[in-house]
Amino acid sequence: MKVLFLNGPNLNLLGTREPEVYGRLTLVDIEAMVRTRAIDLKVEIAFRQSNSEGELVSWIQEARGQFNSIVINAAAYTHTSIALRDAISAVGVPTIEIHLSNIHAREEFRHTSLIAPVCRGQISGFGVKSYLLGFEAAIIVTETH
Ligand code: DQA
Repeated sequence: MKVLFLNGPNLNLLGTREPEVYGRLTLVDIEAMVRTRAIDLKVEIAFRQSNSEGELVSWIQEARGQFNSIVINAAAYTHTSIALRDAISAVGVPTIEIHLSNIHAREEFRHTSLIAPVCRGQISGFGVKSYLLGFEAAIIVTETH
């Protein structure tokens, strides 16, 4: 089983970016945490980050036939990107949407996720644990796919 983790814009700044909202761990720390869990579960993972919408779209397209499922923190593109939504829909790889913060408890513009309707489910508000919960969900959807 192979799971692709995708991270959108500004998540490379985790650790220093609004730590009261996003915590003090860096994306490198989060990747290490996910890799430790992946070894325990004997699941292969790839973990990527881009600030570019187009690069994220390309990675989703390339996932077909390469990965069983995708865990995506699309960051701000969650709320704006029809291109990401269309890519997830077109490729058909089961995808889990995750967020560190609870987007529904924040500003109104974060309450809408354009990718939610084409994802298998959403995990939002559990800090770095959202990545581990997303991982678990990705394995569950792969087993039931
Ligand atoms: C985020 C929530 C988004 O609204 C925001 O734009 C982010 C991070 C989260 O993980 O809580 O960049 O996806």
